[in-house]
Amino acid sequence: MNITKICCIGAGYVGGPTMAVIAQKCPHIQVTVVDLNEERIAAWNDPDTKNIPIYEPGLDAIVAEARGRNLFFSTEVDKAIEEAQLIFISVNTPTKTYGKGKGMAADLKYIELCARQIARVAKDNKIVVEKSTLPVRTAEAIKSILDHTGNGVQFQILSNPEFLAEGTAVQDLLQPDRILIGGDTTSEGQKAIDALVEVYANWVPTEQILTTNVWSSELSKLTANAFLAQRISSVNAMSELCEKTGASINEVAKAIGMDSRIGPKFLKASVGFGGSCFQKDILNLVYIAKSYGLHEVAVYWEQVIIMNDHQKRRFSSRIVQTLFNTVSDKKIAFLGWAFKKDTNDTRESAAIYVADDLINEHAQIAVFDPKVSAKKVLNDLNYLETRTADQNAAYVLSFENPYEACKDAHAIAILTEWDEFIHYDWQQIYDNMQKPAFIFDGRNLLNEEQLRTIGFVYQSIGS
Ligand code: NAD
Ligand code: UGA
Repeated sequence: MNITKICCIGAGYVGGPTMAVIAQKCPHIQVTVVDLNEERIAAWNDPDTKNIPIYEPGLDAIVAEARGRNLFFSTEVDKAIEEAQLIFISVNTPTKTYGKGKGMAADLKYIELCARQIARVAKDNKIVVEKSTLPVRTAEAIKSILDHTGNGVQFQILSNPEFLAEGTAVQDLLQPDRILIGGDTTSEGQKAIDALVEVYANWVPTEQILTTNVWSSELSKLTANAFLAQRISSVNAMSELCEKTGASINEVAKAIGMDSRIGPKFLKASVGFGGSCFQKDILNLVYIAKSYGLHEVAVYWEQVIIMNDHQKRRFSSRIVQTLFNTVSDKKIAFLGWAFKKDTNDTRESAAIYVADDLINEHAQIAVFDPKVSAKKVLNDLNYLETRTADQNAAYVLSFENPYEACKDAHAIAILTEWDEFIHYDWQQIYDNMQKPAFIFDGRNLLNEEQLRTIGFVYQSIGS
């Protein structure tokens, strides 16, 4: 089947960038990204591509090239579904906040709504592609809905999980380590797989396009995220031991990373991993294991989350302890709020939890992040429901300028590893702070020697 029209439901961090790259690399395919969120679609259509709703290095240029040519953003979901031969589902799959599986299972209500909408609208055969991260065997449920509520047309369900990381999304999409496509083992299933392989083959070498059965593909995505997060929790666990023993986690990580079997990537000790997916996907994995009665498997993976929570809490406790056991009415400047550099995404960012802990101790938090708005910072705190919105607003203030954020502060906490922080005028920052002037480097980002020479009391993770 020759694909000429693609629809993607969900114009978020995955749907937007992924479809922009497909459109750029496949000028012969019309790609329409649809979403219920009118504000988000309007932002994707903003004439100035600097205002698109997702900040990713290089994305604005790709959108500028393809938008209006063969890339379209729209709220007309039915129309886009009807016209497309291939439909990506790229909606959010958050952790359930109610009912059975609350706090663990993936909430599949948005996925089910999409399936029902596709079933209602489709008048001819469609390939439906799971792009969202889903529990293993979700394709079965989608197929059942499509076959029972559809108009008698044929649907093929593929699993094509996305492995991009935020902040490097464009690079990851242009040069993926691999593309994974799971499909039915029937000849119809194979045809659908081939059609999607052909789309990616426009820019990805075919030997990097891996095809499997649907269940392997669905489970590989959860497994990849679990392994990645596990590495961070492992290195963070060692960071605490380093602090007690005089070893340095940077040196330990380098030493073990040179073992080619371990490898150097993803061994950076930190204040704890954030982001919308690691925690959600591991909780989901734990829930799935439990639902099959696999207690040991569930407990094993749950530990990754427990360690991460501990790492965040440990960081805030250390700040309080070091500041003579009280931060009440002290100004603590947060450099960074995003969950990692080069993104404006703050979901599950460690900064939120560290701030929440410090506000419990009545600290005044001054936030500077190059890409995160004051509104988002407050929304993130309000979402925790620890206190009222007015109370949060009384404790947290965002600044447009890092030097203002740090002025008169008792301490600075580095929560995100933005490159620009390295190059600040640290002497000037020191001169305008309360003394002793503390820095808690939650990302092991800054130059320790330089800061100590200036006069800072500098503490990093794992040394
Ligand atoms: P997101 O919240 O940024 O975007 C999802 C979008 O879907 C929202 O804009 C929402 O309005 C829209 N939506 C929900 N239901 C809809 C419906 N019925 N019709 C139309 N639009 C609808 O989420 P995201 O970060 O893009 O993640 C999407 C999926 O991809 C998740 O399953 C996630 O686990 C997975 N994933 C995310 C990343 C990442 O880096 N964020 C990476 C790989 C995989
Ligand atoms: C992660 C995976 O890397 C992607 O492959 C996956 O597609 C995605 O989740 C997803 O499914 O959503 P992402 O969360 O965007 O991507 O970013 P990462 O680079 O993985 O970082 C996650 C968190 O771990 C960040 O808070 C980061 O600062 C932290 N981290 C990362 C560390 O603390 N140490 C490290 O060595 C690496």
